[in-house]
Amino acid sequence: MSMDSSFAMKGGDGPTSYSQNSSFQGSISDQAKALLVKGIQQNIVLPADPNCTMHRTFRIADLGCSVGSNTVACVQTIMEAVKAKYKAEGIRPETLEFQVFFNDQVSSDFNTLFQTLPQDRSYTVAGVPGSFHGKLFPKASMNVMHSSMALHWLSEVPKEVKGLESPAWNKGKITYSESAPEVIEAFSSQFQRDLEEFFKQRSFEMVYNGLLIILMPCRPDGTRPSESLLVQGNECFLGHLLVDMAKEGLVDEALIDSFNMPVFVPTAAEVREVASKIECLSVEVVKKICLPRSLGAITQHPRSLPRLLQAVTEDVVVKHFGPATSDLFYSRLPKKIEERSLASPPPACLVKLEEFENLFMLLRKNAVSN
Ligand SMILES: C[S@@+](CC[C@H](N)C(=O)[O-])C[C@H]1O[C@@H](n2cnc3c(N)ncnc32)[C@H](O)[C@@H]1O
Repeated sequence: MSMDSSFAMKGGDGPTSYSQNSSFQGSISDQAKALLVKGIQQNIVLPADPNCTMHRTFRIADLGCSVGSNTVACVQTIMEAVKAKYKAEGIRPETLEFQVFFNDQVSSDFNTLFQTLPQDRSYTVAGVPGSFHGKLFPKASMNVMHSSMALHWLSEVPKEVKGLESPAWNKGKITYSESAPEVIEAFSSQFQRDLEEFFKQRSFEMVYNGLLIILMPCRPDGTRPSESLLVQGNECFLGHLLVDMAKEGLVDEALIDSFNMPVFVPTAAEVREVASKIECLSVEVVKKICLPRSLGAITQHPRSLPRLLQAVTEDVVVKHFGPATSDLFYSRLPKKIEERSLASPPPACLVKLEEFENLFMLLRKNAVSN
C-alpha cells in the first residue's frame, strides 16, 4: 500500500480521538485477557539453556497498535504472562530483557503513543511504521507477535468494486452488506489475499516456536459475509448518511460510488483456512469472544457511538471527501444514529450486541522457515 492510500485512527487526545474513544476495543481485549495469559503460558517454549545470552532479549510486537491505553495494556499482559511462566519453571525472569515494537500505518500518531507510554516502564520500545501486510522485521527475530482489532482492515479497497464497467461495481454503497454477490466475492478475496500475506510475513519474522496471537471481529460460523453486524453498521449509519447528503446536493453521488470502507469481517473457519496455507504455522487455540454486556451502554450512549465511529473512520473519510464534507458528515452523524435507533424495528447492529463476535486465535511457528 502506498503512503497516500494508508489511513489510521484519529490521533491526538481530543474529544473525537481514538485514544479517548477506544474503550469499545479495550473491553474486547479485557475479555480476551485470560485467554492471552493462558495461551502464552501453555504454548510458549522456554529456551533449553536459559543461561545462554542469546535468549535474554525477548521481542514482542503489537501490530496495528494505534494510540491509547489498549496497546500498552496488551503488551503489559504479554510480558507479565511470560515472566510468570519463566518463574514457574524456576528460571529467574530478571534475566530477561523485553523489547517492545509498536507497529501501525505511517500516518498513525506515534508521537502521542510515545508520550503516553508509562515513564517507569521496564522495557525498551521502538515504533515500526508501515503496513503489516508487508515485511516489518528481520527474519526469525520476534518471540511473540500480537494484533488486536486490526486485521479486518484490508490493504486496499478491491479494484473491481470501483470499476464502473465491472460487474462488481459497488454503486451507492460503502460496504458489501447490501451488495451483489460479485462485490462480496471481491471483498472476501481481498481479505484472503491480505491475511495470507500477513501470516506469511509473520511466519518469516518469528523465531522457531514463536507465538502469533490475533484478536479480531468475526462473524458467527455459517453466516454469510453480508450478515456481519459491524459491516451492516457501517452501511446503515455512514453509508446511508452519505446517500442522504447526496440527495440534498451536499455530496457528489459519483464520490460515494467510488468510496468503500476497506473492511471485511470473516468467520473463524475462514481465518483458519487461510492459516492452513502457511506450512510452518500451526493453529493452537481458537476461541470466540462475545461482547461484554457493559458495551451495550457504550454503543447506545448518544455521544459514544458517533465518536467511536468518527475516531475510527475519519481519516478514510477525509482522504476521500475532503475536510469540509467530512466535518459536515460527522456533525450530522449523531442525529442519523438517533434516527435509526428510533426506527421500528431498530437495526440489528444496534440491538443484537450479543451477536458481535470476536475471534481469539493463537498460532505457533513450528518449523524453521527460509
Ligand atoms: C481499531 S484500531 C485497534 C488499535 C489497538 N490494537 C486496539 O486494540 O485498541 C486498528 C488499528 O489497525 C491499524 N491498521 C490497519 N491496517 C493496518 C496495516 N495494514 N498495517 C498496520 N496497521 C494497520 C489502524 O491504523 C488502527 O490503528
